[in-house]
Amino acid sequence: MAACRSSFLCIALTTILIMNFSSLPSQAQLSGETFYALSCPTALTIISTNVNLAVLTDLRMAASLIRLHFHDCFVQGCDASVLLDDTPTMIGEKTSIFNVNSLRGFDVIDRIKSQLESICAGVVSCADIVAVAARDASVSVGGPTWTVNLGRRDSLTASKTLADSNLPRFTDSLQQLTDSFASKGLTQRDMVSLSGSHTVGQAHCATFRDRVNSNTSDIDPTFASNLRVGLPCPADGSGDTNLAPLDLVTPNTFDNSFFRNLRDRKGLLQSDQILFSGGATDSIVNEYVNNALTFSSDFAAAMVKMGQISPLTGAAGEIRSFCNVVN
Ligand code: HEM
Repeated sequence: MAACRSSFLCIALTTILIMNFSSLPSQAQLSGETFYALSCPTALTIISTNVNLAVLTDLRMAASLIRLHFHDCFVQGCDASVLLDDTPTMIGEKTSIFNVNSLRGFDVIDRIKSQLESICAGVVSCADIVAVAARDASVSVGGPTWTVNLGRRDSLTASKTLADSNLPRFTDSLQQLTDSFASKGLTQRDMVSLSGSHTVGQAHCATFRDRVNSNTSDIDPTFASNLRVGLPCPADGSGDTNLAPLDLVTPNTFDNSFFRNLRDRKGLLQSDQILFSGGATDSIVNEYVNNALTFSSDFAAAMVKMGQISPLTGAAGEIRSFCNVVN
């Protein structure tokens, strides 16, 4: 610590650093992408083949797999807890308000797992499958690629309560969103770039009804009225399950138009538009509007960071045989 001028100052600074880092999730211990090179050499090919097939059949699946990884990592860390079914003694994350009737991709992960178990049983964790599938999903719709660090193991538990409290809400303020990401060791810049994955995928009317029916100044009036009437997502509470693209311009392509939409007051979710609402993140949004490559590389780096939230490694957890139940 070159900045230390006295031993007292050094001790104080070290204590502050330890206190700060100990309150954040651990981000260490994963191995590189060759982790399964000897134990299951075709693992990564099997994952990418299945992801590409799934996206070919259902374009939205790319978005769903990216979101699945996010919802896994924000609750207990990237440990495949999100995949566990409820049991008589445990209420898992699938029934959290953020996941029920909304989170998708479980069948794709189960299919991959069953193929991997048939060629190298008990080797590839469900948490790693989810992480690699998210990367392959990004690539499948023209998004960036990145190296996925591997070696995550699967949790023995899941928690609806933790999912309900740890995942960000579409009604959150910018400060609440920032705090939520900070609690996972992610910066405001990480948060904005990761939110850029709303360049693909869809949302239910229930998540944007208030916004499109509110006539506030932060929404383009024609954009709002098209969603009230055309979709429809009216104020009377009907049409809860109707879907609209999170990026109305290029809904199935991973690009930076999501950020241009925000600048044009055409963000679908309140939590999207709030990233460009006169606050500290406006400059990041502008940067991504003006430079698609910066968005791409920031997104890739943030996905790597997110994928390292509190992994189970070594002897912790297990390698599940089926992703939806513990062994
Ligand atoms: C900033 C806080 C965030 C909030 C409040 C939020 C909220 C939402 C909501 C409400 C939906 C629509 C769900 C539905 O109606 O079924 C959604 C969809 C989606 N979210 Fe987020 N999200 C956030 C951050 C992220 C992050 C960090 C990622 C990925 C790294 C992500 C990826 C996605 C994707 C890809 C979809 C579309 C999924 C599909 O079509 O199946 N979101 N999000």
